[in-house]
Amino acid sequence: MSTPRLVHTTDFVAEAAQLILDSARAALAGRGLFRLALSGGNTPRPVYAKVAELGRDLPWDKIQITFGDERCVPPEDEKSNYRMAKLSLLDAVPIPEGNVFRMKGEIAPAAAATQYEHQLAAVAARMGEERYVHDLLLLGIGDDGHTASLFPGTTALHETTRNVIENYVPQLDTNRITFTYPLINAARHVVFLVGNPKKLPVVEGILAPDSPYPAAGVKPVNGDVTWLL
Ligand code: 6PG
Repeated sequence: MSTPRLVHTTDFVAEAAQLILDSARAALAGRGLFRLALSGGNTPRPVYAKVAELGRDLPWDKIQITFGDERCVPPEDEKSNYRMAKLSLLDAVPIPEGNVFRMKGEIAPAAAATQYEHQLAAVAARMGEERYVHDLLLLGIGDDGHTASLFPGTTALHETTRNVIENYVPQLDTNRITFTYPLINAARHVVFLVGNPKKLPVVEGILAPDSPYPAAGVKPVNGDVTWLL
């Protein structure tokens, strides 16, 4: 695990979008495929719109989209991370439907997690990988130091085998579907999209030695981490 790279930016949206586009072009040049995990919440929305604006010329048929986590709601629900990505990015680029791996928030969480696990495993098998390897995996953080839907004190933090898991979050009294540390830490590049100066104290807490925050568990085995602040 290399030392995390901290990038302080004065134009978060433009720099985040450029980071994604640069990663895409490098992966496509190197491997003819770009596997990108989208993060949810509000921060990435304008970034995805900028990627759609600047990246329309990308070979979207060679780009695969996954989701780091999803709320257990239907895809048309305003809480859906898929809906947010669809409206800001996916509807604005010519990506084949089969290239977008949607977590089915509308079905039983355990079934949705299992289905997603199988979908990723099928690609990993074709690629000769032990587990699916993202070229770029985007993450956000919450004020409690959670990332994806790996919230403090929840069961998913302890998963060491599965890649995708259902996770009951008592703090929100809700179920989520989330990537686990094994899948996140198999990525080539992880980028935390922070963008909000109010989150800097929790970022410092995450980067501190022996941090208790869930986001501190993101340590790609053969990859690197960038914090866009
Ligand atoms: C989610 C996320 C979550 C998010 C952080 C930050 O489903 O909410 O994946 O991990 O990235 O909570 O959210 P904001 O960008 O809205 O602050």
